[in-house]
Amino acid sequence: MSNSIHLLLTADVMGRPGRRLLAALIPQLRNHYDLHGVFINAENVAHGFGMGLKQYKELCDAGIDGFSMGNHVWDQRELIEFIDQVPNIVRPANFPPGTPGKGHAVIPCGGLPIGMINIMGRVFMQALDCPFQIVDREVTALKAETPIIWVDIHAEASSEKQAMGWYLAGQVTAVTGSHSHVQTADERILPGGTAFITDIGLTGPMDGVIGMEKEGAIYRMAKQMPARLNVLETGAVQFCGLVLEVDPETGKTLSLERLQYRYETIEEAEGSCLFPG
Ligand SMILES: [Fe+2]
Ligand SMILES: [Fe+2]
Repeated sequence: MSNSIHLLLTADVMGRPGRRLLAALIPQLRNHYDLHGVFINAENVAHGFGMGLKQYKELCDAGIDGFSMGNHVWDQRELIEFIDQVPNIVRPANFPPGTPGKGHAVIPCGGLPIGMINIMGRVFMQALDCPFQIVDREVTALKAETPIIWVDIHAEASSEKQAMGWYLAGQVTAVTGSHSHVQTADERILPGGTAFITDIGLTGPMDGVIGMEKEGAIYRMAKQMPARLNVLETGAVQFCGLVLEVDPETGKTLSLERLQYRYETIEEAEGSCLFPG
């Protein structure tokens, strides 16, 4: 067996606190795990809504290799203008034909091609093409180029994400969930070497409602009236991720480690040393 490589994956990264967490922790994680690539879900990096060019450039500078999206993909309309100009952003593959952008990409990381697919669920979400039929098409396209394939299933229902995990077991390197903003503790390697977790969880503020200020979220639900939602900029924060050890020849996951680091403040995170000595 050839030398294994390590990849770091995240789910939803929320607003400025999320971006600051990445800037503080990715260099330490990259060094500690000798990471070959870092891939995030970026649908919430711009104040909770989409990703603009400014955040994209900032995150590339922070060492992010690939970006997956979700239902918030077009919240920053400028992404419509630049998504086809850059190689490393994928939006849900089951959007209608002709939608800007692409559902899969191959990212060269240290000379090794890493495939990524973004697919969206349909349970309690907008009506899209069948994620199972479309993911077959995307996996087939990527397999011609690389055995290392990450599938980010952006979905509300745990059941749909688990179904996708089993559906692709043995075919891809990892199927990981995003969109719920809550980490699940069910990470495992499915038969055939496919890493799976229902949701990697939010990287961002902890003291709100899925990353937003709690007052607005409570008002909307309790009063059934519109209220502005702002990313919570204060209080405790968390980084959530999944580290995979992968055989680059076969694309199979050999081991995995679920990460969750919590801090009282973003400043504490920025001063932290994850691996002393
Ligand atoms: Fe999200
Ligand atoms: Fe989402």
